[in-house]
Amino acid sequence: MSSRSTLTIVLAAGEGTRMRSSLPKVLHPVAGRPLIAHVLAAAPDDKNDAIAVVVGPDHQVVVDEIKRARPEAKTYVQHERLGTAHAVLAAREAIASGADDILIAFGDTPLIDKRTFERLRTALRDGAALAVLGFRAADPTGYGRLLVEGSELIAIREQADANEVERAVTLCNAGVMAFAGKTALKILDRIGNGNSKCEYYLTDAVTIVRELGLRAAVIETDEDEVRGINTKAQLAEAEQVMQRKLRQAALDAGVTLIAPETVFLAADTTFGKDVTVEPFVVIGPGVSIDDGTVIHSFSNIVGARIGRNASIGPYARLRPGTVLGEGVRIGNFVETKAADLDAGVKVNHLTYIGDTHIGENANIGAGTITCNYDGFDKHRTEIGAGAFVGSNSSLVAPVRIGTGAYIGSGSVISKDVPDDALAVERAEQALRPGWAKRFRDMKMLNRKPKSPK
Ligand code: UD1
Ligand code: MG
Repeated sequence: MSSRSTLTIVLAAGEGTRMRSSLPKVLHPVAGRPLIAHVLAAAPDDKNDAIAVVVGPDHQVVVDEIKRARPEAKTYVQHERLGTAHAVLAAREAIASGADDILIAFGDTPLIDKRTFERLRTALRDGAALAVLGFRAADPTGYGRLLVEGSELIAIREQADANEVERAVTLCNAGVMAFAGKTALKILDRIGNGNSKCEYYLTDAVTIVRELGLRAAVIETDEDEVRGINTKAQLAEAEQVMQRKLRQAALDAGVTLIAPETVFLAADTTFGKDVTVEPFVVIGPGVSIDDGTVIHSFSNIVGARIGRNASIGPYARLRPGTVLGEGVRIGNFVETKAADLDAGVKVNHLTYIGDTHIGENANIGAGTITCNYDGFDKHRTEIGAGAFVGSNSSLVAPVRIGTGAYIGSGSVISKDVPDDALAVERAEQALRPGWAKRFRDMKMLNRKPKSPK
């Protein structure tokens, strides 16, 4: 129902001290994307939808990431951590602006699916004032327990306030909720802090909904989807779950993964048709791989656009700003960075190509280095179409190799080479016929060779 407006409030004011990191918790990456960016990507994004994120004080880096992920999002600061309901009310102004549905999500729960938010909104359309996302916990310790009677949600009991019987309940609160916009503030404003932790619990909304004669519903989901992250171990578990999903999606889209469990993808990796990824490949953020391309084993690829029918690796390292045209071949132990390679270029062995454009069908010999850095600035190398760079050449940037030019092996090229010219920069080869034999004979006269024992 796109005519309904939805406000998604993401709570991200947590301290995350158990991560033992100077990076704020919600900025830790899963599949190459910060936790908070996953949640923001799942939030509804129709034109009349809005997003509010509640952040802790002094969290400018978090605000920056939020703006990157969803530029339209508004941020609100929760100055004191007085509980989840208190955090939601930090975004009071956004709630008061009157959305039809209000979704609450946690910034540290990155596996949440778009379709789950949709199911919660459906429950509101069906008349509930509040819809709570629940799951069956393998170990419910620490979670709020959902107390139900028939199909009715009666209350949520936090671990600290639960009795023996309530603690045995395994249906738990995932933390994700949806409030009907018209009654949300009335409910939230009634939440008090009369519990063992003296916090304003969002979970108390359920009892208040019932006191007002309204209805609260439960929507169930899988435990994997609502894993919250508090520790590095939980971060690693979430990574595993996410990688499994991404591999499955790639396989479903027709990508050949020979050993899927050894391939690591990023949340934004895109594939064309008939792509093959061999075992032990790591793909970071910002990578697209076009039709018919093969990524051979042990390659590491970040921020690269790879064209059709290319062949990459084994042991290739493609870094940000790499753009490869059709049929490009990148072989073993080749590193590229900010490198624009036109169709048919071959860079087959042991080479560094940085800050460079290479024209069509040029061949770059083994051991070629573009010397792009002088200790202060980066400089560009331009290599013309059809050029042939002999093995073990250093191209000292800024420098231009002309179209169709040849570079003799072992040259250090620091001046531009015209089109179709040959440039050789190395000492003349000296030849002394018979020298080696004379040398050996002289040595043998002076010293007897060691006899084997
Ligand atoms: C909460 C739920 C619990 C649920 C569990 C699911 C409450 C009272 N309890 O417990 O029922 O089973 O999540 O993981 O809601 N936050 C703020 N400001 C605050 C407090 C929290 O922004 O003042 C944020 C945190 O950053 C976090 C989220 O709210 O993203 C949840 O807070 P947390 O302290 O982790 O709550 P739990 O004890 O896990
Ligand atoms: Mg938590």
